[in-house]
Amino acid sequence: MYKINEDYLKLPGSYLFSTIGKKTNAYKEKHPEKDLVRMGIGDVTQPLAPVIIEALHKAVDEMASPETFHGYAPDLGYEFLRNAIVKNDYQARGCDIAADEIFVSDGAKCDCGNIQEIFSKDNRIAVCDPVYPVYVDTNVMAGRTGIYDTEKETWSDVIYMPCVAENGFSPELPEKTPDLIYLCYPNNPIGNALTKDELQVWVDYANKVGAIIIYDAAYEAYISEENVPHSIYECEGARGCAIEIRSFSKNAGFTGVRLGFTVIPKDLESNGTKLHTLWARRHGTKYNGAPYIIQKAGEAVYSESGKEQLAKQVAYYMNNAAYVREELKNAGYEVFGGVNAPYIWMKTTNNMTSWEFFDYLLENANVIGTPGSGFGPSGEGYFRLTAFGTYENAVEAVKRIKAL
Ligand SMILES: Cc1ncc(COP(=O)(O)O)c(C=O)c1O
Repeated sequence: MYKINEDYLKLPGSYLFSTIGKKTNAYKEKHPEKDLVRMGIGDVTQPLAPVIIEALHKAVDEMASPETFHGYAPDLGYEFLRNAIVKNDYQARGCDIAADEIFVSDGAKCDCGNIQEIFSKDNRIAVCDPVYPVYVDTNVMAGRTGIYDTEKETWSDVIYMPCVAENGFSPELPEKTPDLIYLCYPNNPIGNALTKDELQVWVDYANKVGAIIIYDAAYEAYISEENVPHSIYECEGARGCAIEIRSFSKNAGFTGVRLGFTVIPKDLESNGTKLHTLWARRHGTKYNGAPYIIQKAGEAVYSESGKEQLAKQVAYYMNNAAYVREELKNAGYEVFGGVNAPYIWMKTTNNMTSWEFFDYLLENANVIGTPGSGFGPSGEGYFRLTAFGTYENAVEAVKRIKAL
């Protein structure tokens, strides 16, 4: 008789966004006439930029003739894309990363979730609290997190690094020594960033204790401040301790197109085995490459007109973020983030829990956000609003919240 992977049964409740979806649908069913403003899930809303559409069309046409047809993509991704990534994302910022250290994939979520596979089950992970749920949940599925404490909503074998008002929403070096440290900057859900000096502290720490930092830089395009690093490899010594994961979802609107990449420097080695070799083996065995058409669209992101058009998209969302942040602040709300990331992290009012505030906003303002506690216990009492909607929606949401 077959047995299932019982580690899946340890996952508490359903995934955050499905709970939000269920609550929203239940409200919609009861009040079909209500017009809801959605500022919950971090999905983009602007259409693909013209330069991307053009590249997609051209690549589709290439697939129609035998001379230019493309089948399976190379394991690590097409050279044209890996070269464009290295030139624009790394060399242009003085980072020493080679094209064959880039692994093209269909997005950051899969890479964030899958990367733990190349590490021993005995490794102890450290995560920020609150955190993008994928890091913890995929380690639960892999049986690496111990026992769940339903009251505290924490796992016995996970090191939590609270990011709360008292520490300026930035994690402190953990007391217990981790083997794998997940960092996400610019941050989802808090919407803040680390300066280069702050990130350097983590790189030095990881090198000192022999840990790997899994650095999720999915929101890199939203950085607006000078002293915030776009890549962890801007820090000295990061080649010796860091894996970086990037996405085309937020900088180029590829959430439904699917493209991302992971950087594994060849310096990363454990007992003579390179992590690069393991990930290449994993990639080659379990993944057959992002489609040619999509990688061509990815290449267009780095063209001059691509950069220009996409900078406008990012600016559009960041204008929403600035608007929501400033308006809510002026109205007396405590708000954070929204300067280097498209997320606003706000304190709930009247000591409401995050879910109470969710229900309160849903019912009284018809605005949907994301409860901070869904990202971890230290998110309790906070609420996340995204700037990925339209400007009109941001204005409407603010108007309704201010009228409460
Ligand atoms: C921190 C973070 N990493 C990764 C992802 C997923 O990116 P992708 O669309 O490339 O899978 C998200 C999506 O919201 C995210 O917030």
